[in-house]
Amino acid sequence: MKQPYVFITRRIPEDIITPLKAEGRVSMWEKEETPVPYERLEEEIKKADAVFCNVSDPIDAALLEKAERLKVIATMAVGYNNIDIQAAAERNIQVAHTPGVLTETTADLTFALLMAAARRIPEGIEVIKNNEWGAWAPFFLTGRDIHHARLGIIGMGRIGEAVAKRATGFDMDIVYHNRSRKPETEEAVGAVYVEMEELLETSDFVCVQTPYTKETHHLMNREAFQKMKSTAVFVNTSRGPIVDETALYEALKEGDIQAAGLDVFENEPVRSNHPLLTLPNVTALPHIGSASEDTRRKMAEMTVGHILQGLRGEDVAHKVEM
Ligand code: DGY
Repeated sequence: MKQPYVFITRRIPEDIITPLKAEGRVSMWEKEETPVPYERLEEEIKKADAVFCNVSDPIDAALLEKAERLKVIATMAVGYNNIDIQAAAERNIQVAHTPGVLTETTADLTFALLMAAARRIPEGIEVIKNNEWGAWAPFFLTGRDIHHARLGIIGMGRIGEAVAKRATGFDMDIVYHNRSRKPETEEAVGAVYVEMEELLETSDFVCVQTPYTKETHHLMNREAFQKMKSTAVFVNTSRGPIVDETALYEALKEGDIQAAGLDVFENEPVRSNHPLLTLPNVTALPHIGSASEDTRRKMAEMTVGHILQGLRGEDVAHKVEM
């Protein structure tokens, strides 16, 4: 019987992929920070039994049409908006992702970003590095208080709840909006369900934790930003296209809101000439929400496990359902 063939779209440490090598032939795009070109993906998908991918690989319908023997696509991420789930399902290809394992790490980063944007930490770092620190001044780099402020969470899934849990330590007043109410979360962290409008109008911090779908495309648009408090801080560690970036730029420039903390962008990677990066009140990070050494290893190991399950004809443990 022909040995299964696995293609890995980014360099992953050898010890993590050893179990795959015991199961079949493995080929890996050797670069760590450059995505595999689409043309190479097209070649690989024709012969692969399994693909180990990540958030920056467009696994679209046109690509999947070329698959001849593909059984499983395992993404090293919780979000899977880069994969055409319907096209995969039509070809009986299982899709697996990595929920749970990155929740706490992503919530940590979300809170760090919230605090950095509120207390103007990147601006302070710039001042000191550029020798611009004059003297202690009464209103120099004053930001927003986090403690006792109202946090509005859009999307109360695992990560939303973990962010809320952190907020309780700061005595924040937590409100949320979600497709359905979460009584257990309400009980656990004291969060109160509100309509989107109320969340936007009353929150001091608005934090997006919802997955990217057709319905959430540009959910945060001009109208939404205009509803927010002029002192509010907006944080997004979910997916870039949930935000209309032109609207966010205008809101920040015109003072409709105070500041933003962004770990994700509509078209990644962004460069320094991106309009949002030219604003002092934007704290920007390069999509590193889940990037702790331990969590990334766990995500990669989980992805390897999903591929082994798929190759053996088993149901993958964390299957993305249509
Ligand atoms: C995810 O898992 O979806 C993140 O965006 C990448 O860690």
